[in-house]
Amino acid sequence: MVVENNVALQPYNSFGIVARAQRLVRVRQEADLIELMTSANWPVLTREAPPFVLGGGSNLVITGDVKPLVIKMEIRGRRLIEETDKGWLVEAGAGESWHETVRWTLEQGWPGLENLALIPGCVGASPVQNIGAYGVELQDRFSELDAIDLQTGQAFTLNAAQCGFGYRDSVFKHTPAGDKGFGLAGRAAITRVRFWLPKPWKPVLGYADLERKIAETGIAHPDAQQIFDWICAIRSAKLPDPAVIGNAGSFFKNPTVSEDQCADIIARDPKVVHYPMADGSIKLAAGWLIDACGWKGRGVGNAGVYEKQALVLVNRGGATGGEVMTLAKAIQTSVYERFGILLEPEPVVV
Ligand code: EPU
Repeated sequence: MVVENNVALQPYNSFGIVARAQRLVRVRQEADLIELMTSANWPVLTREAPPFVLGGGSNLVITGDVKPLVIKMEIRGRRLIEETDKGWLVEAGAGESWHETVRWTLEQGWPGLENLALIPGCVGASPVQNIGAYGVELQDRFSELDAIDLQTGQAFTLNAAQCGFGYRDSVFKHTPAGDKGFGLAGRAAITRVRFWLPKPWKPVLGYADLERKIAETGIAHPDAQQIFDWICAIRSAKLPDPAVIGNAGSFFKNPTVSEDQCADIIARDPKVVHYPMADGSIKLAAGWLIDACGWKGRGVGNAGVYEKQALVLVNRGGATGGEVMTLAKAIQTSVYERFGILLEPEPVVV
């Protein structure tokens, strides 16, 4: 295994932040990681800090040069494992592009992932975040994943329950000593993910943006490819393309409040965008809260708030991770002062 030194990370993070990895290895198959972990070099490489697994870097803020060993996950490969009269079981390597994988499943005639089109990043990161958009979350289409334990070198498989999925959350975002009391953050290198795409396919069209497309086009019964095209158009219209303007998608989670708290906010701000949840709590649109505090288009240094969607922080060119985090903290403070709500960031900060 080749350990590369002093590797530029700008091409590997969607924010486009300039930083370097002191040491980086590229894992193209499971055996590469096992070989590395059993080499005499491993204790030396991980002596000061546990390794850091890098996927597509689309949910990441890098605040300086990365000292831990960076394991860049580049495992490729996509295949149909099984088709039954109940659905398709499809597997993809962690290093495959998420969007290209969605496109490929549709080309093969296996619908189900279309609402998750155009989400940046790699397949391996999709369970970490439990990515979601337009009424579908990864957990709705997830079967299992394979991973390698970075402490023991053992390969293991987890089902959905074992992944502890929540809203933009999973066991991979929590440390064992963290608030949940369990976690695999920093411990699991996800190598492959399997998706279950059920038959018969049912379109998920409940979101206002999609209802608008139905009204505009007069297509009341879109097929999966049509929904894919609509989602791509909707996202492109309001979210910046990371290849053009660096960003990490939504920077904060949409916060959940109680009915009383929401009533209190509505009394002061009747226009607050809110959605009742099945458990009786209410989800607020963080983008609206940030927008209401006047942040759209403002910034700190070269880090800014996107003009078309206040939930997205962007790199206007040459932003540092420090500038992004200073901006994020300033936004948190003003939303807290006005609404009494502490917004929780989505991306991983290193
Ligand atoms: N809004 C404003 N001003 C803004 C931004 C939003 O008033 O600057 C209002 C919108 O008008 C809308 C509401 O807030 O009424 C919600 O906005 P939007 O539909 O754009 O969705 P979101 O809640 O901001 C979430 C996800 C997105 C996902 C979309 C669609 C989170 C944190 N974000 O955004 O996911 O694509 O819904 O399902 O849950 C991501 O996680 O990176 C991401 C892009």
